[in-house]
Amino acid sequence: MSADPPPLLELRGVSKRFAGVTALDGVDFTLGRGEIHGLVGENGAGKSTLMKIIAGVYADYEGEMRLDGRPVRLRSPREARDAGIGMVHQELSIVPALSVAENVLLGRQPLNRLGMVSWRRMREQARAQLRELGIDLDPTVPAGSLPIGLQQMIELARVLLSGARIVILDEPTSALSPPEVERLFTLLERLRQSGRSVIFISHFLDDVLRISDNVTVFRNGRRVGTAPAREVGKGWLIERMIGGGHERLEESYTDARMLPPRPSTPAVLEAEGLGVAGLFEGASLRVHAGEVVGIYGFMGSGQLELARALSGKLPLDHGTVRVDGRPARLRGGTPAAKRAGIAFVPESRRAMLFAPEPVYRNISISILERISRLLLHPRREREIAEGHVRRLGVRPARVDLPVGQLSGGNQQKVALARWLTHLPRVLLLSEPTRGMDVGAKDDVVRIVRALREQGIGIVVVSSEPETVLALADRILVMRRGHLAQEFAGEAVGKDRLLEAA
Ligand SMILES: Nc1ncnc2c1ncn2[C@@H]1O[C@H](COP(=O)(O)OP(=O)(O)OP(=O)(O)O)[C@@H](O)[C@H]1O
Ligand SMILES: [Mg+2]
Repeated sequence: MSADPPPLLELRGVSKRFAGVTALDGVDFTLGRGEIHGLVGENGAGKSTLMKIIAGVYADYEGEMRLDGRPVRLRSPREARDAGIGMVHQELSIVPALSVAENVLLGRQPLNRLGMVSWRRMREQARAQLRELGIDLDPTVPAGSLPIGLQQMIELARVLLSGARIVILDEPTSALSPPEVERLFTLLERLRQSGRSVIFISHFLDDVLRISDNVTVFRNGRRVGTAPAREVGKGWLIERMIGGGHERLEESYTDARMLPPRPSTPAVLEAEGLGVAGLFEGASLRVHAGEVVGIYGFMGSGQLELARALSGKLPLDHGTVRVDGRPARLRGGTPAAKRAGIAFVPESRRAMLFAPEPVYRNISISILERISRLLLHPRREREIAEGHVRRLGVRPARVDLPVGQLSGGNQQKVALARWLTHLPRVLLLSEPTRGMDVGAKDDVVRIVRALREQGIGIVVVSSEPETVLALADRILVMRRGHLAQEFAGEAVGKDRLLEAA
């Protein structure tokens, strides 16, 4: 009689504290061979912290971890890698200055007969591996020059194809388009069939339920539920994530929406025939006072670039832009756009934060730009920040904490709060809810509505249909660099948006 083999990975009673914060509190977690295990929970629930323990980033924790039944304590990411554990982190860890090939093969560069790195084989291998993910890319270009979605794919390629038997994906799909997500899922299926195991963290609950064998929910540093994915639904997950009140949240994020009729207020933003060679052409749009216009398109369709051009970050080759009827000279870059009344919150918001600086400083920074530092009393600065932190539900709600110590989603909220400290005429939001949990997304929906009431014009660009459906009054669909279709005053759902894109 032989006993069952021990599970591949087992954690028992794992606790982890950071100065003053209990990130994990006595967590048990089990991963089997050939299992895809979904992990969900609100921003700050402790998901990334547990994954970093498994991946050797944090060695000081309480509790026990076993691999193949044997106790282990991994003291570095390198030791984890040697033990067959690979992780794609929530924050991109691409080395921007290195080529695509170097990034894909980081740490396992092929050598030639002389024992030196073989650049030719490296290029070939990287190209072949990226093709498996459906990407045809010149492996010699610097990774940092690529759009964020492609950077994410490169990072995925590195870990998925490294031969790791435990693959941890911490929110890998937030920057991916639907076809890219499909390719990723096909690859995950293949990993599962070859007996390898995956931990998949995402705020897209439908995706989690679809791809996972089992799902686990975290709440406030504790595991509050684990179940076979096919036996539970979204409601079950949300209920455990937030504990009650899930009907309202689910509703605010349903697929179909009835869009209001076009407003009769004056236009605050009028753009005619905008174009940037190779990115988008002939883009004309109007945004009225108190209106939220959503621009949806697959990653790489040009909508992010359109927003960047409107913000003065990307020089336009053609077209004119007016704000409140006055021509905006965007040639002068972001400062000129700001003077014209256009504010921009880019998709890589975390890059704009000053990690060691406290939360309140990060929020007040745009005020500091306007008023001299001396004029703004530190107490006033904190008060303003405290108001925003409360309204946005930043957790923990402490404005003196260095922003770098907040969880990923909470950092995003701080980055958004900064732009609420002074009202522009036109607010451009690029991927405003990326990486946020259902509750935080709900907070953003409420904030955008509040801004709309102030009579400003808002443009939301996103490659997530859910985001534009939740936020926009009118939706434009961008396809291959052209504004292809408009939805206004009618019922529209995810299916119709995807069809139009
Ligand atoms: N390096 C750190 N120093 C101090 N506190 C930290 C650190 N990293 C995480 N925390 C805290 O630990 C808690 C759990 O954070 P964690 O990043 O694990 O959350 P998460 O579930 O991954 O959230 P998200 O969905 O936003 O990514 C949070 O309260 C966070 O502020
Ligand atoms: Mg996280």
